[in-house]
Amino acid sequence: LPRRVAQAGLLGLGATLLSGCQSNRLISIGDMASASNREIFWMSVPAIALSIIIFAAVSWALFYTVRKFREDRNDAAPAQFHGNNRLEVILVVVPVLIVVLLSVLTVRTMARINPTPREAVDINVLARQFWWNFGYPGAPAAAGGTVTNGNELVIPTRNQIALTMTAGDVLHGFWAPNLGGQRYAIPGSQKTWQVDTDRVGVYYGECSVLCGASHANMRYRIIALEPERYNSFLRTAQAYRAPTPAPGSPEARGYTIFMQGKPSTGALACAACHRIQGTPANGAAGPDLSFFGTRHTLGAGIWEGERAREMLLPWLANSPGVKPGSQMPPYNGATYRVNGEVRKGGVLTRRELEDVAAYLRT
Ligand code: CUA
Repeated sequence: LPRRVAQAGLLGLGATLLSGCQSNRLISIGDMASASNREIFWMSVPAIALSIIIFAAVSWALFYTVRKFREDRNDAAPAQFHGNNRLEVILVVVPVLIVVLLSVLTVRTMARINPTPREAVDINVLARQFWWNFGYPGAPAAAGGTVTNGNELVIPTRNQIALTMTAGDVLHGFWAPNLGGQRYAIPGSQKTWQVDTDRVGVYYGECSVLCGASHANMRYRIIALEPERYNSFLRTAQAYRAPTPAPGSPEARGYTIFMQGKPSTGALACAACHRIQGTPANGAAGPDLSFFGTRHTLGAGIWEGERAREMLLPWLANSPGVKPGSQMPPYNGATYRVNGEVRKGGVLTRRELEDVAAYLRT
Protein backbone atom coordinates (compact mmCIF):
# COMPACT_ATOMS: atom_id res chain seq x y z
CA LEU A 1 0.00 0.00 0.00
CA PRO A 2 2.70 2.59 0.85
CA ARG A 3 4.14 2.07 -2.64
CA ARG A 4 0.72 2.60 -4.21
CA VAL A 5 0.28 5.78 -2.18
CA ALA A 6 3.73 7.01 -3.21
CA GLN A 7 3.02 6.34 -6.88
CA ALA A 8 -0.35 8.07 -6.73
CA GLY A 9 1.25 11.02 -4.95
CA LEU A 10 3.98 11.34 -7.57
CA LEU A 11 1.49 11.13 -10.42
CA GLY A 12 -0.78 13.67 -8.76
CA LEU A 13 2.13 16.05 -8.25
CA GLY A 14 3.21 15.61 -11.86
CA ALA A 15 -0.32 16.16 -13.16
CA THR A 16 -0.72 19.30 -11.03
CA LEU A 17 2.54 20.76 -12.29
CA LEU A 18 1.71 19.88 -15.87
CA SER A 19 -1.82 21.26 -15.88
CA GLY A 20 -0.61 24.43 -14.20
CA CYS A 21 2.07 24.99 -16.79
CA GLN A 22 0.18 23.89 -19.88
CA SER A 23 -2.94 26.00 -19.44
CA ASN A 24 -1.03 28.60 -21.47
CA ARG A 25 0.66 26.58 -24.16
CA LEU A 26 2.44 29.53 -25.70
CA ILE A 27 4.82 30.02 -22.79
CA SER A 28 5.44 26.98 -20.64
CA ILE A 29 8.50 25.64 -18.87
CA GLY A 30 6.54 22.39 -18.49
CA ASP A 31 6.14 21.79 -22.23
CA MET A 32 6.70 18.06 -22.53
CA ALA A 33 7.21 18.28 -26.30
CA SER A 34 10.80 19.28 -25.56
CA ALA A 35 13.26 16.56 -24.52
CA SER A 36 15.20 19.20 -22.56
CA ASN A 37 12.08 20.19 -20.66
CA ARG A 38 11.30 16.52 -19.94
CA GLU A 39 14.78 16.09 -18.43
CA ILE A 40 14.33 19.20 -16.31
CA PHE A 41 10.88 18.06 -15.19
CA TRP A 42 12.06 14.63 -14.10
CA MET A 43 14.90 16.25 -12.20
CA SER A 44 12.51 18.55 -10.39
CA VAL A 45 10.18 15.74 -9.27
CA PRO A 46 12.64 14.22 -6.74
CA ALA A 47 13.77 17.73 -5.74
CA ILE A 48 10.20 18.80 -4.98
CA ALA A 49 9.40 15.48 -3.29
CA LEU A 50 12.48 15.93 -1.11
CA SER A 51 11.39 19.48 -0.24
CA ILE A 52 7.98 18.22 0.83
CA ILE A 53 9.54 15.55 3.05
CA ILE A 54 11.91 18.09 4.62
CA PHE A 55 9.08 20.57 5.17
CA ALA A 56 7.00 17.87 6.84
CA ALA A 57 9.92 16.71 9.02
CA VAL A 58 10.80 20.25 10.15
CA SER A 59 7.16 21.09 10.85
CA TRP A 60 6.78 17.91 12.87
CA ALA A 61 9.99 18.64 14.84
CA LEU A 62 8.80 22.17 15.53
CA PHE A 63 5.38 21.14 16.86
CA TYR A 64 6.87 18.20 18.76
CA THR A 65 9.39 20.46 20.49
CA VAL A 66 6.85 23.15 21.29
CA ARG A 67 4.50 20.59 22.78
CA LYS A 68 7.03 18.47 24.64
CA PHE A 69 8.95 21.38 26.16
CA ARG A 70 6.01 23.64 26.89
CA GLU A 71 5.80 25.29 30.33
CA ASP A 72 5.25 22.73 33.05
CA ARG A 73 2.25 23.54 35.24
CA ASN A 74 3.92 21.89 38.24
CA ASP A 75 6.71 24.38 37.86
CA ALA A 76 9.34 21.67 38.17
CA ALA A 77 12.74 22.55 36.67
CA PRO A 78 13.14 20.93 33.21
CA ALA A 79 15.88 18.42 32.59
CA GLN A 80 19.27 20.16 32.21
CA PHE A 81 21.56 18.80 29.50
CA HIS A 82 24.13 20.03 27.02
CA GLY A 83 24.54 18.78 23.47
CA ASN A 84 23.65 15.53 21.79
CA ASN A 85 26.42 14.10 19.64
CA ARG A 86 24.23 11.64 17.78
CA LEU A 87 21.69 14.33 16.88
CA GLU A 88 24.41 16.76 15.75
CA VAL A 89 26.04 14.17 13.50
CA ILE A 90 22.63 13.48 11.92
CA LEU A 91 21.99 17.21 11.43
CA VAL A 92 25.27 17.56 9.53
CA VAL A 93 25.32 14.31 7.55
CA VAL A 94 21.70 14.33 6.32
CA PRO A 95 21.78 17.85 4.77
CA VAL A 96 25.17 17.09 3.17
CA LEU A 97 23.71 13.94 1.61
CA ILE A 98 20.70 15.91 0.35
CA VAL A 99 22.93 18.57 -1.23
CA VAL A 100 25.13 15.90 -2.83
CA LEU A 101 22.06 14.13 -4.22
CA LEU A 102 20.63 17.36 -5.67
CA SER A 103 24.03 18.28 -7.15
CA VAL A 104 24.37 14.91 -8.85
CA LEU A 105 20.84 15.19 -10.28
CA THR A 106 21.52 18.75 -11.50
CA VAL A 107 24.88 18.00 -13.12
CA ARG A 108 23.48 14.87 -14.77
CA THR A 109 20.52 16.84 -16.17
CA MET A 110 22.77 19.66 -17.41
CA ALA A 111 24.95 17.15 -19.24
CA ARG A 112 21.91 15.52 -20.83
CA ILE A 113 20.21 18.67 -22.06
CA ASN A 114 23.42 20.22 -23.37
CA PRO A 115 25.55 17.35 -24.62
CA THR A 116 29.01 17.85 -26.07
CA PRO A 117 28.84 18.10 -29.87
CA ARG A 118 26.63 15.58 -31.55
CA GLU A 119 24.34 15.67 -34.55
CA ALA A 120 22.66 19.07 -34.30
CA VAL A 121 21.27 21.84 -36.48
CA ASP A 122 23.54 24.88 -36.13
CA ILE A 123 21.99 28.32 -35.84
CA ASN A 124 23.72 31.54 -34.80
CA VAL A 125 21.97 33.95 -32.44
CA LEU A 126 22.88 37.63 -32.23
CA ALA A 127 21.21 39.71 -29.52
CA ARG A 128 21.27 43.50 -29.64
CA GLN A 129 19.36 46.40 -28.11
CA PHE A 130 16.51 45.48 -28.74
CA TRP A 131 16.21 42.82 -31.40
CA TRP A 132 17.54 39.46 -32.56
CA ASN A 133 19.16 38.09 -35.70
CA PHE A 134 19.09 34.35 -36.35
CA GLY A 135 21.70 33.14 -38.82
CA TYR A 136 21.70 29.83 -40.65
CA PRO A 137 25.20 28.90 -41.72
CA GLY A 138 26.01 26.82 -44.77
CA ALA A 139 24.35 29.01 -47.39
CA PRO A 140 26.25 29.37 -50.67
CA ALA A 141 28.54 32.38 -50.91
CA ALA A 142 26.35 33.73 -53.72
CA ALA A 143 23.61 34.30 -51.15
CA GLY A 144 26.05 36.15 -48.92
CA GLY A 145 27.25 33.02 -47.14
CA THR A 146 24.50 33.10 -44.60
CA VAL A 147 20.74 33.30 -44.38
CA THR A 148 19.67 35.66 -41.64
CA ASN A 149 16.21 36.23 -40.27
CA GLY A 150 15.43 39.03 -37.83
CA ASN A 151 13.29 38.26 -34.77
CA GLU A 152 11.91 34.96 -36.12
CA LEU A 153 13.75 31.74 -35.45
CA VAL A 154 12.83 28.83 -37.71
CA ILE A 155 13.77 25.37 -36.46
CA PRO A 156 13.06 21.75 -37.40
CA THR A 157 11.21 19.52 -34.93
CA ARG A 158 12.73 16.28 -33.58
CA ASN A 159 16.26 17.67 -33.84
CA GLN A 160 18.78 19.09 -31.41
CA ILE A 161 19.21 22.77 -32.27
CA ALA A 162 22.68 24.05 -31.37
CA LEU A 163 22.37 27.80 -30.85
CA THR A 164 25.67 29.64 -30.85
CA MET A 165 24.97 32.85 -28.99
CA THR A 166 26.57 36.22 -28.83
CA ALA A 167 25.53 39.80 -28.13
CA GLY A 168 26.48 42.97 -29.98
CA ASP A 169 26.34 45.49 -27.15
CA VAL A 170 25.31 44.47 -23.62
CA LEU A 171 24.37 41.26 -21.83
CA HIS A 172 21.11 39.69 -23.05
CA GLY A 173 19.43 36.40 -22.28
CA PHE A 174 17.96 33.93 -24.75
CA TRP A 175 14.92 32.38 -23.14
CA ALA A 176 12.60 30.00 -24.99
CA PRO A 177 10.57 28.38 -22.16
CA ASN A 178 8.91 25.71 -24.32
CA LEU A 179 12.18 24.59 -25.88
CA GLY A 180 14.16 24.08 -22.70
CA GLY A 181 16.14 26.46 -20.58
CA GLN A 182 17.77 29.81 -21.08
CA ARG A 183 21.25 31.13 -21.72
CA TYR A 184 23.13 34.41 -21.55
CA ALA A 185 24.10 36.07 -24.82
CA ILE A 186 27.42 37.73 -23.96
CA PRO A 187 29.29 40.37 -26.00
CA GLY A 188 32.58 38.98 -27.31
CA SER A 189 31.69 35.42 -26.36
CA GLN A 190 30.25 32.58 -28.39
CA LYS A 191 28.56 29.90 -26.31
CA THR A 192 26.44 27.08 -27.60
CA TRP A 193 23.16 25.98 -26.06
CA GLN A 194 20.89 23.21 -27.29
CA VAL A 195 17.10 23.29 -27.47
CA ASP A 196 14.50 21.07 -29.11
CA THR A 197 10.81 20.36 -29.55
CA ASP A 198 8.79 17.47 -30.96
CA ARG A 199 5.74 19.57 -31.82
CA VAL A 200 5.16 21.79 -34.85
CA GLY A 201 3.99 25.26 -33.87
CA VAL A 202 4.81 28.85 -33.02
CA TYR A 203 6.46 29.54 -29.69
CA TYR A 204 7.37 32.71 -27.81
CA GLY A 205 10.85 33.62 -26.79
CA GLU A 206 12.13 36.67 -25.01
CA CYS A 207 15.14 38.37 -23.52
CA SER A 208 15.64 37.30 -19.91
CA VAL A 209 18.31 39.78 -18.79
CA LEU A 210 17.53 43.42 -18.02
CA CYS A 211 19.32 45.17 -20.87
CA GLY A 212 17.83 48.65 -21.23
CA ALA A 213 14.69 50.67 -21.89
CA SER A 214 13.05 48.10 -24.17
CA HIS A 215 14.20 44.91 -22.44
CA ALA A 216 10.52 43.96 -22.17
CA ASN A 217 10.10 44.63 -25.90
CA MET A 218 12.85 42.27 -26.98
CA ARG A 219 10.91 39.23 -28.02
CA TYR A 220 10.95 36.75 -30.86
CA ARG A 221 8.89 33.94 -32.32
CA ILE A 222 10.13 30.42 -32.84
CA ILE A 223 8.54 28.62 -35.75
CA ALA A 224 9.00 24.86 -35.48
CA LEU A 225 8.50 23.00 -38.78
CA GLU A 226 8.64 19.34 -39.76
CA PRO A 227 12.28 18.58 -40.72
CA GLU A 228 11.38 18.23 -44.44
CA ARG A 229 9.60 21.58 -44.41
CA TYR A 230 12.51 23.14 -42.53
CA ASN A 231 14.92 21.90 -45.20
CA SER A 232 12.77 23.31 -47.97
CA PHE A 233 12.52 26.63 -46.06
CA LEU A 234 16.29 26.72 -45.83
CA ARG A 235 16.81 25.87 -49.52
CA THR A 236 14.28 28.51 -50.58
CA ALA A 237 15.83 31.07 -48.24
CA GLN A 238 19.34 30.33 -49.48
CA ALA A 239 18.33 30.82 -53.09
CA TYR A 240 16.25 33.92 -52.33
CA ARG A 241 17.15 37.20 -54.05
CA ALA A 242 14.90 40.10 -53.17
CA PRO A 243 13.25 41.24 -56.43
CA THR A 244 13.74 44.74 -57.78
CA PRO A 245 10.31 46.40 -58.03
CA ALA A 246 8.89 47.46 -61.41
CA PRO A 247 9.94 51.04 -62.28
CA GLY A 248 7.38 53.71 -61.43
CA SER A 249 5.54 51.61 -58.82
CA PRO A 250 5.16 52.73 -55.19
CA GLU A 251 7.40 49.77 -54.28
CA ALA A 252 10.10 51.12 -56.62
CA ARG A 253 9.94 54.57 -54.98
CA GLY A 254 10.14 52.85 -51.58
CA TYR A 255 13.12 50.82 -52.80
CA THR A 256 14.97 54.01 -53.79
CA ILE A 257 14.34 55.63 -50.39
CA PHE A 258 15.32 52.40 -48.63
CA MET A 259 18.64 52.26 -50.48
CA GLN A 260 19.51 55.96 -50.62
CA GLY A 261 17.45 57.77 -48.01
CA LYS A 262 16.48 61.34 -48.79
CA PRO A 263 19.59 63.46 -48.24
CA SER A 264 17.74 66.77 -48.87
CA THR A 265 15.68 66.32 -45.67
CA GLY A 266 18.30 64.42 -43.67
CA ALA A 267 16.49 61.08 -43.94
CA LEU A 268 19.11 58.35 -43.58
CA ALA A 269 19.13 55.34 -45.90
CA CYS A 270 17.53 52.26 -44.33
CA ALA A 271 20.23 50.23 -46.11
CA ALA A 272 22.88 51.82 -43.89
CA CYS A 273 21.62 49.69 -40.99
CA HIS A 274 19.59 46.85 -42.53
CA ARG A 275 20.38 43.99 -44.84
CA ILE A 276 18.14 42.58 -47.55
CA GLN A 277 19.50 39.48 -49.23
CA GLY A 278 20.21 39.96 -52.93
CA THR A 279 20.18 43.79 -52.83
CA PRO A 280 22.94 46.34 -52.12
CA ALA A 281 21.46 46.77 -48.61
CA ASN A 282 24.02 45.14 -46.35
CA GLY A 283 23.84 47.05 -43.04
CA ALA A 284 24.40 45.22 -39.78
CA ALA A 285 23.33 47.79 -37.17
CA GLY A 286 19.67 46.72 -37.32
CA PRO A 287 17.78 43.48 -37.79
CA ASP A 288 17.97 41.66 -41.12
CA LEU A 289 14.89 42.48 -43.25
CA SER A 290 15.37 39.88 -46.01
CA PHE A 291 12.18 38.03 -45.12
CA PHE A 292 10.25 40.95 -43.64
CA GLY A 293 7.27 40.31 -45.94
CA THR A 294 6.74 36.83 -44.45
CA ARG A 295 7.08 37.86 -40.82
CA HIS A 296 4.18 37.68 -38.38
CA THR A 297 5.48 40.35 -36.02
CA LEU A 298 6.96 43.83 -35.87
CA GLY A 299 9.29 45.64 -33.49
CA ALA A 300 11.04 42.47 -32.21
CA GLY A 301 7.87 40.52 -31.58
CA ILE A 302 5.89 43.23 -29.78
CA TRP A 303 3.05 43.43 -32.32
CA GLU A 304 1.60 40.44 -34.08
CA GLY A 305 -0.70 39.78 -37.04
CA GLU A 306 -3.07 42.59 -38.01
CA ARG A 307 -1.67 44.87 -35.30
CA ALA A 308 1.81 44.47 -36.76
CA ARG A 309 0.49 45.59 -40.15
CA GLU A 310 -1.21 48.63 -38.63
CA MET A 311 1.89 49.59 -36.69
CA LEU A 312 4.27 49.57 -39.67
CA LEU A 313 3.63 53.22 -40.61
CA PRO A 314 3.84 54.60 -37.03
CA TRP A 315 6.96 52.48 -36.63
CA LEU A 316 8.64 53.93 -39.72
CA ALA A 317 7.56 57.46 -38.77
CA ASN A 318 8.89 57.36 -35.22
CA SER A 319 10.34 54.10 -34.01
CA PRO A 320 11.73 55.40 -30.67
CA GLY A 321 8.32 57.03 -30.11
CA VAL A 322 6.53 53.66 -30.14
CA LYS A 323 9.34 51.52 -28.71
CA PRO A 324 11.43 53.24 -26.00
CA GLY A 325 15.16 53.00 -26.60
CA SER A 326 14.81 51.92 -30.23
CA GLN A 327 17.95 53.08 -32.02
CA MET A 328 16.23 53.49 -35.36
CA PRO A 329 15.99 57.22 -36.16
CA PRO A 330 12.53 58.73 -36.59
CA TYR A 331 11.48 59.82 -40.08
CA ASN A 332 8.93 62.41 -39.01
CA GLY A 333 11.48 64.99 -37.86
CA ALA A 334 11.21 64.04 -34.17
CA THR A 335 14.32 64.16 -32.02
CA TYR A 336 15.98 60.99 -30.76
CA ARG A 337 18.93 60.00 -28.63
CA VAL A 338 22.07 58.18 -29.69
CA ASN A 339 24.50 57.43 -26.84
CA GLY A 340 23.00 60.24 -24.80
CA GLU A 341 23.33 62.76 -27.61
CA VAL A 342 20.11 64.36 -28.89
CA ARG A 343 19.70 64.37 -32.67
CA LYS A 344 16.97 65.39 -35.04
CA GLY A 345 15.52 62.73 -37.29
CA GLY A 346 15.15 63.18 -41.03
CA VAL A 347 11.82 63.80 -42.70
CA LEU A 348 9.83 61.63 -45.10
CA THR A 349 6.33 62.54 -46.20
CA ARG A 350 3.46 60.21 -45.38
CA ARG A 351 3.38 59.05 -48.97
CA GLU A 352 7.09 58.29 -48.91
CA LEU A 353 6.64 56.31 -45.71
CA GLU A 354 3.82 54.38 -47.38
CA ASP A 355 6.10 53.67 -50.34
CA VAL A 356 8.78 52.28 -48.02
CA ALA A 357 6.14 50.17 -46.26
CA ALA A 358 4.90 48.90 -49.63
CA TYR A 359 8.44 47.92 -50.60
CA LEU A 360 9.05 46.17 -47.27
CA ARG A 361 5.86 44.13 -47.65
CA THR A 362 7.15 42.68 -50.92
CU1 CUA B 1 17.93 42.16 -24.17
CU2 CUA B 1 16.79 42.24 -22.10
